[in-house]
Amino acid sequence: MENINWGELPFGYVKTDYNLRCYYRNGKWGEIETSSSEFLNIHMAATALHYGQESFEGLKAFMGKDGKIRLFRWEENAKRMQNSAKGIMMAEPTIELFKKMTFEVIKLNKKFVPPYGTGASLYIRPVLFGSGPQVGVKPAGEYMLVFFVTPVGPYFKEGFSPVSMLVTREFDRAAPLGTGKYKVGGNYAASLTSMEKAHNSGFANVLYLDAKEKKYIDECGPANFFAIKDSTYVTPKSDSILPSITNMSLITLAEDMGLKTERRKIELEELDTFDEAGACGTAAVISPIKSIFDDDNKKEYKFNSPGEISKKLYNILTSIQNGDVEDKFNWVDIVE
Ligand SMILES: Cc1ncc(COP(=O)(O)O)c(C=O)c1O
Repeated sequence: MENINWGELPFGYVKTDYNLRCYYRNGKWGEIETSSSEFLNIHMAATALHYGQESFEGLKAFMGKDGKIRLFRWEENAKRMQNSAKGIMMAEPTIELFKKMTFEVIKLNKKFVPPYGTGASLYIRPVLFGSGPQVGVKPAGEYMLVFFVTPVGPYFKEGFSPVSMLVTREFDRAAPLGTGKYKVGGNYAASLTSMEKAHNSGFANVLYLDAKEKKYIDECGPANFFAIKDSTYVTPKSDSILPSITNMSLITLAEDMGLKTERRKIELEELDTFDEAGACGTAAVISPIKSIFDDDNKKEYKFNSPGEISKKLYNILTSIQNGDVEDKFNWVDIVE
């Protein structure tokens, strides 16, 4: 692609050639349609617009040194989308349909997969929503599944760079028995004000506490939180956090490196005892955290950043994604 500066790509929308659409009507999924339009024509009473029947996913494909396109753990995204659909009463795409649309949308937009070595990748965004009309609060009778892609740059332009987070007690992104564990649009709408406030005060993002007691660490902006304490990888256990595929992968890698791993409640004050801390997710893999500021108590928690273990985990995971090391956990599929 002559007019894309791969090294300068943001994490944002770039128009590509094709997207795919599939409708769920009369109790079944139809044929996959290919479109080159960026627009959808939907009913004004669609439940997605009124009652938030919407979920999305985000996964990445990488160009290897060998010229092969590698897709990372797509099946986990497929299962998570099924779970989100169930959670807000939408039609569930089958794993087979999710796979077909993922592979096909990448193949159709092959020329937008950033070259090896640029740190950039192709981000795949599946979105599922209630497209059928409803005025009463009820699930739709029709659903639409759309897959589009956009090339995205490395999250950190200067490489692996440490960030600061702000503790919030003023906002929750999800209720204890709410939809936090699903990847649904409403959770992100609920997070916007707090994130904007943190950005305006010079922080990369917010650290949410549990909504009920404001005692335990929940999520870290749109990412999971993890920390390293001696030789243990610790991450919060909570019913309101999104099960991150990156976090799940880091746990496997940490165990493989000989670290102990714990998924448990983490009190905010325990931050004082951690050597390293990070936010993890598809966008950045790991954002090492250098400090967490609790403005209500005028307390700052500081960490080694970037810490040695975080660096190692980041390097192994990105090398697997790029095909630079053996994929011993079978996480990668080649898009042929
Ligand atoms: C709220 C939230 N938590 C965690 C994550 C990280 O999940 P994953 O590692 O599957 O990208 C994301 C991003 O997808 C997210 O939006």
